[in-house]
Amino acid sequence: MSKSICILGRQPLLGLVELESLFGPDKVRAVGQAAEVDTDDRIVPLDRLGGTQKICKLLAYLPYNNWRQLEKHLIENVPQHLDFLPDGKLKLGLSVHGFNVTPRQINASGLALKKSIKASGRSVRIVPNTTAALSTAQTIHNNMTGPLGMELVLIADGGQTVLAQVIAVQNIAAYAARDQARPKRDARVGMLPPKLAQIIVNLAIGRIKETTNNSTKPHPLTVLDPFCGTGVILQEAALMGCNVYGTDLEPRMVEYSEANLDWLGARTIKQLLRVGDATSTQWEEPFSVIASETYLGRPFSAEPSIEVLHGVMQDVDTILRKFLRNLAGQTSPGFRLCLAVPAWKTPQGFKHLKALDSLDEIGYTRQSFVHANERELVYHRPNQIVGRELVVLQRK
Ligand SMILES: C[S@@+](CC[C@H](N)C(=O)[O-])C[C@H]1O[C@@H](n2cnc3c(N)ncnc32)[C@H](O)[C@@H]1O
Repeated sequence: MSKSICILGRQPLLGLVELESLFGPDKVRAVGQAAEVDTDDRIVPLDRLGGTQKICKLLAYLPYNNWRQLEKHLIENVPQHLDFLPDGKLKLGLSVHGFNVTPRQINASGLALKKSIKASGRSVRIVPNTTAALSTAQTIHNNMTGPLGMELVLIADGGQTVLAQVIAVQNIAAYAARDQARPKRDARVGMLPPKLAQIIVNLAIGRIKETTNNSTKPHPLTVLDPFCGTGVILQEAALMGCNVYGTDLEPRMVEYSEANLDWLGARTIKQLLRVGDATSTQWEEPFSVIASETYLGRPFSAEPSIEVLHGVMQDVDTILRKFLRNLAGQTSPGFRLCLAVPAWKTPQGFKHLKALDSLDEIGYTRQSFVHANERELVYHRPNQIVGRELVVLQRK
């Protein structure tokens, strides 16, 4: 069994449940702000993971977490592992997670390591740390996953340290292009980041095996987004090879989704877009799962009064309940969906939708996770009032 170390994004819990959902809770272990995944020799598919920034090969568990000892280990061991690398100037970087060391101390250790490598006859440049861990951009810019790159990752894991090497990094340019270059965008319906859309799709799909018909080719899943807006979720599902089905109340949004999917040109097998009110529509075509960012209510740039907030919460709550009831009538027990619904930040913490307390009565069970409390799965930026709570449901 091989193990991969996944360096998680800004909100590590979201990345952790994404991995739990895809690989199963027993295959995933939280290691500080990272995750260790038993991959069974399967490659962790970085391109479809929204919550993982870098993938590393596990090199060793070191039975201590003292920085001086770790530095000594690197100095003594790294030079002898460089023989298999091609000739040329090596680029080496250190990414440190969960240790009480400053970038200055890390740079000093890097310099000591450089000396020991030079003494063994190789030339090397150390990528300087301005933060304890190198950013994704630094990893890419310095070609740390290339033949002459080596980014060593040290993660505090209780009394021990995980030592790993970065082998793949998220393609931030591709995410930015999907986000910013698509022809139709609309700030009014919110800008769902493609990485979050991927997490939503992965949580919706879970570990459902792709069904096979008589041919050897797997029959792709169809992902339905009943509040499809400009189609960010459908774009990401299409890139994962799923058929996509989108509906939205507003004809303009349906046109936007269509234009964005055409622009993406993913080799999607089937793409269907229709106008429809999620609270009452009959979805005519079959679908396998739902992945959606539902109606979020109006955006707020400053904290609203309690009366205004209650009014918005009430509206959103009603739409969500009606949608879930409508869906329950058209799906079978076990049907799975992942929704991003609004949760509002207040000085007392997040205010959650009331409907989430009566899911049982509406006909759904909320999926819990081993690696996170489901109530903590709220994607938010520090200055935002409206966060997005990720809810994974199964029809009872
Ligand atoms: C937050 S946006 C979703 C944005 C979307 N994830 C995207 O990628 O652009 C919510 C969408 O729900 C739609 N909507 C609101 N009420 C609806 C309803 N009852 N049925 C279907 N769509 C609805 C809005 O038109 C809007 O496009």
